[in-house]
Amino acid sequence: MNKIFTVVASVDEIPEGEQLRVVIDETEILICHHEQRFYALQYYCSHEELPLEGGMYENGCIICPYHGAEFCLKDGRVQAPPAYEDIRTFPLKIIDNTIAIQI
Ligand code: FES
Repeated sequence: MNKIFTVVASVDEIPEGEQLRVVIDETEILICHHEQRFYALQYYCSHEELPLEGGMYENGCIICPYHGAEFCLKDGRVQAPPAYEDIRTFPLKIIDNTIAIQI
């Protein structure tokens, strides 16, 4: 595991309710901004490996735009089918108005 936090974006690049795809060492990550907090999730849904990007937020979860699986933004736990496997999440820090992620 890479213990270094990598700066990937400025806070201003991701307004409330939005998302941004970033790549660190070939790992694709979706940064989500929901209710004044930022989260870093694996980019692909655990159901059919389709992108979670564009998924709506509801009750602290992201809803996969393809078949509606829900994952907790904080810990990636699956909350609704058809997915049954959790997704990965990544530690995220705000440093001087930038977003840094550890993979
Ligand atoms: S690919 Fe996400 S629910 Fe099917």
